[in-house]
Amino acid sequence: MDHFIYTDGQLHAEEVPLADIARTVGTPVYVYSVATLERHYRLFTEALSPMPHLVCFAVKSNSNLAVLKLLGDLGAGMDVVSLGEYLRARAAGVPGERIVFSGVGKTRAEIRATLEGGIRQYNVESEPELEVISAIAAELGVVAPVAIRVNPDVDAKTHEKIATGKSENKFGIPISKARAVYGLAAALPGIEVVGIDVHIGSQLTDLAPFEEAYLKVAELTGQLRADGHDIRRLDLGGGLGIPYTRSNEVPPLPSDYGALIQRTLGHLGCEIEIEPGRLISGNAGVLVSETIYVKQGEGRDFLILDAAMNDLVRPSMYGAHHDIVPVVEPAPGAAAQPYDVVGPVCETGDTFAKGRPLPAMAAGDLVAFRSAGAYGAVMSSEYNSRPLVPEVLVKGDHFAVIRARPTFDEMLNRDSIPVWL
Ligand code: LLP
Repeated sequence: MDHFIYTDGQLHAEEVPLADIARTVGTPVYVYSVATLERHYRLFTEALSPMPHLVCFAVKSNSNLAVLKLLGDLGAGMDVVSLGEYLRARAAGVPGERIVFSGVGKTRAEIRATLEGGIRQYNVESEPELEVISAIAAELGVVAPVAIRVNPDVDAKTHEKIATGKSENKFGIPISKARAVYGLAAALPGIEVVGIDVHIGSQLTDLAPFEEAYLKVAELTGQLRADGHDIRRLDLGGGLGIPYTRSNEVPPLPSDYGALIQRTLGHLGCEIEIEPGRLISGNAGVLVSETIYVKQGEGRDFLILDAAMNDLVRPSMYGAHHDIVPVVEPAPGAAAQPYDVVGPVCETGDTFAKGRPLPAMAAGDLVAFRSAGAYGAVMSSEYNSRPLVPEVLVKGDHFAVIRARPTFDEMLNRDSIPVWL
């Protein structure tokens, strides 16, 4: 459930008509709903309530400072994958002891800065990384809390570009090697082993792969404890999928996911960490765009929008589906016709949807891409020298710009021409 609904014939974000935001801020524009973000975060804390837990929002899905502050103030931890994300979380007021640092390629500079700034845990993905973290920690006279990310060799049955838990993926340490690597970790002076980490992929719409992975983690916990390691935290990653269409998709609910965690891992008495991104932010955001032209092609009509693949890359990058709906509610029974929905970027890949049924559209009409709050603005770029798309946050009947659209001067002034040219 989200808070983007038609009221009095107009699509609203909570109580604000999207058309008002479009008029004030211009298009394209991302719009997020406070109530939806809060609701989705709480679904997870409720689902995990029988166990000690920390819900660490995956900052990569939506890294706007206002969104991070909102979730951080509710008590969320953060899952970061770069120093930039760490600094965003800190700037949003989240303390280091609620921030976990994931990712296969943490640099020395990132490790040093986060050790100095305070960190809850590193999710370590290789032996060389363990050694570097230990050396830097020893240099600073501290001990780094570490969970090792294990790769359980489980097929997440999701898009190949976002599956991470198979042995051919670059992530984690093969679970078969885990005991040896934990042995190495325990012997290093700058490392304190605190738990196990696993993340098998994103947009999972079935609980079975989670179950398979978590059963392997339960077994490994027993083995590692028998080896003398104090396994007290289990970081189970993110990945729970969301419905991208209103019709047939029914992914499992966070409550089902919580029950699965309780059933497979609850008896171990560990603190449970999860790293959801998409389920919290995805359906809490829409991308609003204006129709520039309707062009009649051969055997098809093109709806040419002012949003493009640089603003929302998911359709061209993953073939992802986003529902596209008119901001003015179609009259009941209004005839739909198919449109190829495209942006102005000079590539055929700048196509959001083919043959998408929509009511008759005209230049100036607004549309909203649903489910665009996760991996939308964060993956946007200035390709074709199009200004980065702005972001707006809505709470009840008011809204604020939480990232302004850059001016052309700001864009141009970032470059410099060498004096010798
Ligand atoms: N934890 C780790 C270690 C991750 O790699 C990810 C996502 C998450 C948590 C959060 O997963 P979520 O709950 O959001 O599924 N750009 C792609 C998605 C990439 C996901 C990368 N890792 C997309 O637009 O579908």
